[in-house]
Amino acid sequence: MSSHHLLPYRARDDEESCADQDFHHYGTEDYHDPEKSTSGRRTQILSRVSFLNIGFAVCNLTVFVFLMLAHHVDQCIHPTSAQSPADHIVRYNSTYFDKYGHLGGNPFSQPPGPELDNAWHGLLRGMNIAVEPEWLDQHNATSVRLADGPGLLVQLGVYHELHCLKKLKRWNYRDHYYSNLPEEDLKEEEIHIEHCLEWLRVAALCRSDVTLTTFQWEGVNGSRLATEYPIPRQCVDSERVLEWSEARAVNITQEGILEHA
Ligand SMILES: *[C@@H]1O[C@H](CO)[C@@H](O)[C@H](O)[C@H]1NC(C)=O
Ligand SMILES: *[C@@H]1O[C@H](CO)[C@@H](O)[C@H](O)[C@H]1NC(C)=O
Ligand SMILES: *[C@@H]1O[C@H](CO)[C@@H](O)[C@H](O)[C@H]1NC(C)=O
Ligand SMILES: *[C@@H]1O[C@H](CO)[C@@H](O)[C@H](O)[C@H]1NC(C)=O
Repeated sequence: MSSHHLLPYRARDDEESCADQDFHHYGTEDYHDPEKSTSGRRTQILSRVSFLNIGFAVCNLTVFVFLMLAHHVDQCIHPTSAQSPADHIVRYNSTYFDKYGHLGGNPFSQPPGPELDNAWHGLLRGMNIAVEPEWLDQHNATSVRLADGPGLLVQLGVYHELHCLKKLKRWNYRDHYYSNLPEEDLKEEEIHIEHCLEWLRVAALCRSDVTLTTFQWEGVNGSRLATEYPIPRQCVDSERVLEWSEARAVNITQEGILEHA
């Protein structure tokens, strides 16, 4: 009925595929064009090409290959950021998400208590760092200055999303976390939660994970559709990124560390 909607499987021969970095392929296609190289006249012309011209061609090819490489590096290795000092830390690895990760031993899936609070504290401990102004100048951006030098206070994008998730978790248990909060502050927190919900929606669309999710029937007599996640995702090795940030963390609660307006 809807077979025209079926997407044909095409192995990694798509030239737009970032995984297929077969640069040799781009270069050889033109060099060994069978129609051109079997032409006797062309062979004659080629034999008269001077060494200078060959040198020029090699030079052009080098520039071409370099540009192809730069293009691929730009698209494949740094797909989501416009020049961050942490760009070089980003590595991808193949990861399965755990459908039932919220059950069992995950400290983040615990109800309020020291285990949960410590887990969040640990995850966010590298939240704030300082960078040289040059990293922001290119975007005409600036930030709060550190008192002891030219450094400007920043944080990697991933931390804002994690911070928002922590907020949502606390909101889910607001009787525990905000039981003494005045009505007015609770209202303000609710607005913050709306900000976080919207931020995470936009962040998900920004990443637009295209990994395929599958389905199976579940429940009594198989009456309910359930999603399954048997296909791995390409994920940034977040441990590397967080460790990089932790090694540069600025403790903004420390007295006198920030230059005030
Ligand atoms: C930054 O500001 C300069 C001077 O006003 C302007 O020429 C440049 O286009 C701006 N760059 C960006 C990325 O906004
Ligand atoms: C499941 O199937 C059995 C056997 O056909 C039937 O007796 C039962 O009522 C069904 N249960 C539900 C919830 O539909
Ligand atoms: C992939 O990255 C995750 C998150 O940083 C890490 O826990 C895991 O060990 C990495 N796996 C491999 C094979 O490097
Ligand atoms: C940050 O500074 C505050 C105030 O000096 C201190 O209480 C806290 O332990 C520091 N945190 C870390 C992780 O060093």
